[in-house]
Amino acid sequence: MLVRDLMSWPAVTCGPGNTVASAAGRMREAEIGSVVVTDDEKVVGILTERDLLRAAAAGADPSGEVVSFWMTANPEVLGPDEDAATAWTSLTHHRYRHLPVVEGQELVGVVSIRDLLAAARLRPAGEHAIDAPKGLEGVVVATTTIGDVRGREGFYHYRQYSAVDLAAARTFEDVWYLLLEGELPGAEAARTFAADVRQLRSLPEGLARVLPSIAGGAPLDVLRTAVSIFGSELGWRPVSDDDPATVREEALRLSAAVPTILTAAHRLRNGLEVVEPRDDLSFAANYLWMMTGKEPTPEHARAIDQYLIIATDHGFNASTFTARVITSTQADLAASICGAVGALSGPLHGGAPSRALDMLDAIGGAANAEAWLRSAVERNERLMGFGHRVYKTEDPRSTFLRGVAQSLGGPLVGEAMEVERTAVRVLAELKPGRELYTNVEFYAGVVMNSCGIPREMFTPTFAAARTVGWTVNVLEQMSDNRLIRPTARYVGPPPPQPVPPTERARSA
Ligand SMILES: CC(C)(COP(=O)(O)OP(=O)(O)OC[C@H]1O[C@@H](n2cnc3c(N)ncnc32)[C@H](O)[C@@H]1OP(=O)(O)O)[C@@H](O)C(=O)NCCC(=O)NCCS
Repeated sequence: MLVRDLMSWPAVTCGPGNTVASAAGRMREAEIGSVVVTDDEKVVGILTERDLLRAAAAGADPSGEVVSFWMTANPEVLGPDEDAATAWTSLTHHRYRHLPVVEGQELVGVVSIRDLLAAARLRPAGEHAIDAPKGLEGVVVATTTIGDVRGREGFYHYRQYSAVDLAAARTFEDVWYLLLEGELPGAEAARTFAADVRQLRSLPEGLARVLPSIAGGAPLDVLRTAVSIFGSELGWRPVSDDDPATVREEALRLSAAVPTILTAAHRLRNGLEVVEPRDDLSFAANYLWMMTGKEPTPEHARAIDQYLIIATDHGFNASTFTARVITSTQADLAASICGAVGALSGPLHGGAPSRALDMLDAIGGAANAEAWLRSAVERNERLMGFGHRVYKTEDPRSTFLRGVAQSLGGPLVGEAMEVERTAVRVLAELKPGRELYTNVEFYAGVVMNSCGIPREMFTPTFAAARTVGWTVNVLEQMSDNRLIRPTARYVGPPPPQPVPPTERARSA
């Protein structure tokens, strides 16, 4: 932002020979804190409220004193094309509150501390509303120790560790423990935790009974309904009525059972027998087992384990925020997770990793990539699996999953990498400066497909991982809660208008 964008203009001026009383009168009329003193249109000084105080303290008679005696002569000035940061430094360094803005010899405005505060969207204490930008982009609404995303650097982390480093070195259960406890488990704690959560995979009887009747809907709609039944079946109460240890147990139980809900509903929807969870398999291996009825290879189990790790949490995204807003009302855990699933089901959030695979199908081989992609971008269509609101460099999840896909091998991987290379080149040429690279969805689809997960289960698999992130956020919200209750600025017809009587009253 430049000085010309934030200055006040035209500047209020007076001459050096004017009386202090008349200068003070101009300040009062214009409701400002300074007048610029000009002589023959040249800036020769500035008279501020502070100078008026000095004069008053010295017992001066304002109608008898001239401005030139009390003003600051030859003040520092700013150019209209200097940046706002320079204006801030000049004002604060010398403790000025106003500086004239001069272009060539001409006075074109005044910049005050008040102008800078307005530009920074700060309001003086006591004024209750701060206008946040639409979509709350860039607004900090909470503090967290769970993790964060640094879009410009292409980096995100869980607690103090890089999420992709965790995916490379640890299991999903270890990362779950880390998010809950704030530290990675040692060997013994890791064994105990993994064994404990394996016992929590089965569904409450009532839910297992009604699942066949609700399983026909879209997978995330079924999950939302099932989570609601899960909580009421187990008698979960508002989080304010339970101690944190009880809610932690609920969080573990729900996170352990979400894969069971998703896979049972998937099999029922496809007319297959439900496959019961096993307690001798890892979270990821058991998920694939329940979905396909076949024990996965170690490579497939590990690939999904790694996918789950990178999808567990990702800053203050819409579903996480939703879960925390609901928890802030002290509703029960199931209510918060239902809300989060609802937010994830929107196409702008959960998206559809299957759409990236659909695009690969439509391209029909690397040889067609250049022509297909070029024509799509020229028609202003979006390439699925490219671009991200936060990452303006390669999405670290995509980089990691590309490696996982490569290690799994298969013809689709080579084709996907060729399409990626071509798409990045075409986008750089036709959409210069937009910084469009693959996002998490592109290789997530390739990896899940290689491991035998059907396309309709891509986003639900993401939800299975994210349930851990959501529940950890619920626990953190509970630990230092304040009801989240912002304000909206009313912009409708001015109230109160007289309420018109009903027809009957009018005719009576
Ligand atoms: C993810 C996404 C919604 C982020 O969008 P955003 O940050 O709001 O970016 P914008 O919509 O402001 O787009 C900025 C520019 O880049 C272009 N752009 C963004 N993503 C693009 C894509 N995937 N393919 C082609 N052009 C794209 C837009 O057309 C726009 O160009 P313009 O300046 O000529 O109008 C967007 O990149 C997208 O729609 N991607 C495809 C769908 C997808 O992969 N979703 C999964 C996300 S994890």
